[in-house]
Amino acid sequence: MRCLAIANQKGGAAKTTTTVNLAAALAELGRKVLVIDLDPQGSSTDWLGAGGARHGAYDFLTNGAMLGDVTGGSSVEGVSVVAATPALQGAERALAREVGAEMALQRKLKGSASAAWDYVLIDTPPTLGVLTLNALTAARELLVPVEAHVLALAGVAHLIETMGTVRDRLNPDLVLAGVVACRVDSRTRHAADVVDSLRRKFDGSMYATQIRENIKLAEAPSFRQSILDYDPRSSGAADYRALAAEVVGQEKS
Ligand SMILES: Nc1ncnc2c1ncn2[C@@H]1O[C@H](COP(=O)(O)OP(=O)(O)OP(=O)(O)O)[C@@H](O)[C@H]1O
Ligand SMILES: [Mg+2]
Repeated sequence: MRCLAIANQKGGAAKTTTTVNLAAALAELGRKVLVIDLDPQGSSTDWLGAGGARHGAYDFLTNGAMLGDVTGGSSVEGVSVVAATPALQGAERALAREVGAEMALQRKLKGSASAAWDYVLIDTPPTLGVLTLNALTAARELLVPVEAHVLALAGVAHLIETMGTVRDRLNPDLVLAGVVACRVDSRTRHAADVVDSLRRKFDGSMYATQIRENIKLAEAPSFRQSILDYDPRSSGAADYRALAAEVVGQEKS
């Protein structure tokens, strides 16, 4: 099983878009995929059609609930989901009272039948609070979507620093799976410049795939469909399929 945290503390970096569509594309390649939504905004949960779930990530993190109790089906074939229910909004505060709060998810996942999944993708909120730290501590790999915009670059450096701290203190096994440039507008010089500086900085850790700006990706959530179902011939579908192929290509190493 591979467990990837999809994180970037910058809002609107395409974390949720990447979580949902990468999950769908991995499922299309025959992988069994679980999405854990650790963002109280619940965007992945809604997109995956699990907005009505009664139990979810909150119960898993703070109660005795087992993974099977909080996992439900989704509107995307081959993808299951641990939902962000409204209770998750209180999780930061509930966990703050606990010793080892950052390790709650890791503890619970270890004791669960995670062998049932090939991939666990964890969507995270746009903060470096205790929920994101739980994701970074439970995951083996970090996948960072970056909006191809110059303002986005400073935040990535800070995130990589945080990854180093988590590795030192909480999760020595954590590695960077890769950085993926998102919302790339190929008509502008600016986007190309940003992708160039990302490449210089992250060298071997950049995915070759770039996710182009595609309005279909912004429309798909309203229909509770992944881009592969909503518009299989769109550039968004092609790009997330290409990203999934790259991610699967990392399985051996
Ligand atoms: N490749 C793309 N083309 C067009 N729009 C996109 C693309 N990727 C993401 N978006 C849009 O950008 C916005 C932010 O994306 P998304 O919600 O995935 O980011 P996020 O990092 O999860 O945000 P948050 O920090 O609020 O959780 C959304 O409106 C989404 O539809
Ligand atoms: Mg999001």
